[in-house]
Amino acid sequence: MKNYIGRKINTAIFISGTGSNMRNLIKFSNANKSPINVKLVISSNKNAKGIVYASKKKIANYSFKFSDLKYAEKNIFKILSEKKIKLICLAGFMKILSHNFIKKFKGKIINIHPSLLPKYKGLNTYNRVLKNGEKYTGCTVHFVNSKLDGGKIILQKKIKILKKDTAISLKKRVQKEEYLLYPRAIKKIIN
Ligand code: GAR
Repeated sequence: MKNYIGRKINTAIFISGTGSNMRNLIKFSNANKSPINVKLVISSNKNAKGIVYASKKKIANYSFKFSDLKYAEKNIFKILSEKKIKLICLAGFMKILSHNFIKKFKGKIINIHPSLLPKYKGLNTYNRVLKNGEKYTGCTVHFVNSKLDGGKIILQKKIKILKKDTAISLKKRVQKEEYLLYPRAIKKIIN
């Protein structure tokens, strides 16, 4: 097993809310065998729960209102450069980055999405899969390009939908898989 001490990739996590995937990635990054070092958290919401955790773990964090996208991205770009960030992990980040920003970080932004892409892009995935009577759903880690949830898929995990499932129970089971899938996907693109 590789040991990445001293040459871990400086990573930023972008969040908008709870940040449970962010927490999981921070824990993952603390292991010697992890290829990443989480140096920065960016939030689109200053009240995001995830920000409290990042501060507690003494990880630099900044919140931006994305209503002025140009202003936010200009400042974020500056911080990313200062911190020599080479990988951006979107984790429940609910804003759409500009084409220009994505171009600057081409191949270096990845996202986790709660469906088996290319099915169920966008929001409210759990209710939509249940409404459509799907037998399976899951989660996907993919590269971010300018098309919403449309970049190249890195890894997916499929799970069976149970008859008794509600959007809440499904979310719980899918997220459990997300916590395993995101670190695996990072290892896959870095190794
Ligand atoms: C995650 O389950 C992620 O898949 C989803 O938001 C959740 C955030 O939870 N992302 C999207 O829907 C992106 N389109 P978290 O803040 O607890 O990690």
